[in-house]
Amino acid sequence: MANNTRFLLGENDIPKFWYNINADNPVAPDPVFNPVSKEPVTPDFLNVLFPMDLIMQEISTERYIPIPDEVRDIYKLWRPTPLLRAARLEKALGTPAHIYYKYEGVSPSGSHKSNTAIPQAFYNKISGTKAMTTETGAGQWGSALSMACKFYDLPLEVYIVKVSYDQKPYRRFLMETYGAQVFASPTHFTHAGKSILEKDPNSPGSLGIAISEAVEVAATSNGAKKYGLGSVLNHVLLHQTVIGQESIKQMEMADEYPDVVIGCVGGGSNFAGIAFPFLYKNLKEGQRTRLLAVEPKAAPSLTKGIFAFDYGDTAQMAPIVKMYTLGHDFIPPEIHAGGLRYHGMAPTLSSLFDQGLVEAVSVYQKPVFEAALLFTNTEGILPAPESSHAIRVAIDEALKAKETGEKKVILFNLSGHGNFDLSAYHAFQSGSLEDYDYPEEEISKIKSRLPEINLA
Ligand SMILES: Cc1ncc(COP(=O)(O)O)c(C=O)c1O
Repeated sequence: MANNTRFLLGENDIPKFWYNINADNPVAPDPVFNPVSKEPVTPDFLNVLFPMDLIMQEISTERYIPIPDEVRDIYKLWRPTPLLRAARLEKALGTPAHIYYKYEGVSPSGSHKSNTAIPQAFYNKISGTKAMTTETGAGQWGSALSMACKFYDLPLEVYIVKVSYDQKPYRRFLMETYGAQVFASPTHFTHAGKSILEKDPNSPGSLGIAISEAVEVAATSNGAKKYGLGSVLNHVLLHQTVIGQESIKQMEMADEYPDVVIGCVGGGSNFAGIAFPFLYKNLKEGQRTRLLAVEPKAAPSLTKGIFAFDYGDTAQMAPIVKMYTLGHDFIPPEIHAGGLRYHGMAPTLSSLFDQGLVEAVSVYQKPVFEAALLFTNTEGILPAPESSHAIRVAIDEALKAKETGEKKVILFNLSGHGNFDLSAYHAFQSGSLEDYDYPEEEISKIKSRLPEINLA
């Protein structure tokens, strides 16, 4: 089996547990604060936004959390996902490295986001939630939750960042086809949206603003509506660990073990999903796999941000967490990887990066699209612009191996397909894409814009 191209598991191999890194992180999680009182949050406060089962997962330090049978049954629609050897890409690069990728784009909505959308809708349904709200950057998370809410008969409102609403009309049509209501954020009908539009009527929006709108609608619904987040939070990262658990089995089938595991990072969930089960092996079984997170130079929270307490959203309504952040009012440049434009990074991933257990690198969007095209033209799949950040760095690692002659084993997460991102590919091929750096003068201002938290 070692020389196969595809490494496939059966339905019985769908993991029965999610792996919780908070059982093994050498540093205890930091407290989370109420954005108004600045006091530590209680489960009751969080219950305004989330059902209790998800809050319990959020704060759990149990290593393994059982996946309900009802969720595993729906996972069967696309899980286990395939792991492939990118032999044609290796050949095109002339590298001695072996490149493998875990393909999450086979999920019905097109990305890894369905792995958490299903359990989030499930726990909301069984706790009596009547409807859900959410934000979406690129539309992948919104599509996944729209599908999940349809399966559980829950109405859903999606606040999509305006620039993506304009760039990707077909994502909106997909969400509407699953029955969701979709609004371009900022809107005129939330306080958060109105106050942004008063300052800038042409605001392109940001994930931070869209989160504020979705949180406001849920928080003012007298308990009828709850909010779902597609990344950043512990329970979201937890749900994604099915990716890494399956990958470990599939790498065994290939008779190899990765020297480096690579994933793109927006809020950190697909990277955590593939990397945390391998991190467990580093921490507990003496493995030494490098875990490499890739972010855009236009929104470089890990590589240029600061590790501090900050609001999860722009209007300062979401809880304050300790994370690598560019500041909650950060409005990112209009790059095409809409899902990588968040101002912060998951607190757990931030903590692991701070301890040096995870590495990070940032890349420009044009070399990312070059890598995506090479991948499409060798492996056939059109990758999402977000996932293509991981492809860029996988190729860079393979080219380094070519220079040194090392037979390195590289595994990356192909978090989604790019079939709705063709306008971005067209922009790249017609030469109209630009590279952006996050301006240095903005970095020096981050500290002055953060909330003051008293840890005593
Ligand atoms: C295909 C894809 N990959 C990655 C991401 C980034 O999110 P995360 O860091 O939570 O995986 C997104 C976000 O929208 C996405 O759509």
